[in-house]
Amino acid sequence: MEKRIIQLIKQKGIHGIEHANRVMCLSLYLANKLLKDYPDIDMHTILISSLLHDCGRSNDRNDKFHAYKSVEIITKWVYDNNLNHNVDLISKCVIHHNSVYKENYEIPIEAKIIADADKLDRERFRSGCNPKYLELEESKKIIWLAKLLNNK
Ligand SMILES: [Fe+2]
Repeated sequence: MEKRIIQLIKQKGIHGIEHANRVMCLSLYLANKLLKDYPDIDMHTILISSLLHDCGRSNDRNDKFHAYKSVEIITKWVYDNNLNHNVDLISKCVIHHNSVYKENYEIPIEAKIIADADKLDRERFRSGCNPKYLELEESKKIIWLAKLLNNK
């Protein structure tokens, strides 16, 4: 039986399902704003990557290689269930949100969106999101949404 996407998110707390949902909301909103300049944005990849980017986390602390573990889980899920997802692009999105090593390829727009949406949700912490770490100018315009989603 196909494992439901939600069952892949095991982590509770600050990297749990609420964080995944907010990153999904922020990344889809951002992608929609960017469509005029990037009409080929893969919305399906944005949806899957935003929900599952942290699924490989084993703790809420500095889990340095969790992005690689997330890619492993997502890839197995896609192939085991014969799903029609762009594993290559999803992997780039997930790796880029927590890139330990510098990637040796051009970063796709979808990956920049996921990374920024994840950073925007730092609004869930008291310290908030520091705009200087955001990659896309458009992201800086939606800090209000990240605050709204976190009841600030
Ligand atoms: Fe995250």
